[in-house]
Amino acid sequence: DPSATWAEVDDYFAAALAGEDDALVHAAESAAATTMPEAAVTANQGAFLALLARVAGARRVLEFGTLAGYSTIWLARAVGEQGHVVTLELEERNAAVARQNLVRAGVAERVEVRVGPAADSGRALVEAGVEPFDLVFIDADKPSNPLYLAAALELTRPGAVIVVDNVVRGGAVLDADSDDPRVQGVRAVVDAIAANDGLEATTLQTVGGKGWDGMIVARRR
Ligand code: DHB
Ligand code: MG
Repeated sequence: DPSATWAEVDDYFAAALAGEDDALVHAAESAAATTMPEAAVTANQGAFLALLARVAGARRVLEFGTLAGYSTIWLARAVGEQGHVVTLELEERNAAVARQNLVRAGVAERVEVRVGPAADSGRALVEAGVEPFDLVFIDADKPSNPLYLAAALELTRPGAVIVVDNVVRGGAVLDADSDDPRVQGVRAVVDAIAANDGLEATTLQTVGGKGWDGMIVARRR
């Protein structure tokens, strides 16, 4: 079973390089108290997101989908003390878990958790004319991916990085006729990115603790 090896290799690199501290370990464990216990990114994926943010020199990050705030902590640390993260979460119950984790991680003062449907919160940010974001991580309900991409494009400038999680789904993305709305949400956002000359993008397939999945990494031209 190769997937057993993937998970072991994931653990090996996470232990060697990802450097999870107690606050991140606790945040990962507290996912059990959220409405989606298995959805957090892995340590290696969190470190990858943080590296992307650093390489991009990101100071302002927008995240669709908070849950326990595990990826939020990685991103908040990456933007530094002067940086700012806005993270959008549907459920107050999850936001409460996340806020505790952000305090424990020492980044609560640079993170704003907004509760409600992320499409509504995104629109409110557009209407408020907030300062543009440098990196957007789209990781909420998958059927709304196209809406979140549209909001991300309104809330960023050229040079910004847009990442979309869970775009491989164990290979299910290949099924154009899938009756899974999450697969259709992925395929729709792939089509939207492909049709947008203002975006350059690729997909990074990932294996490891969460099985076989992947992220789109896009950049605004
Ligand atoms: C699901 C959502 C996620 O964000 C994730 O990383 C894994 C799974 C899901 O909707 O099943
Ligand atoms: Mg995800």
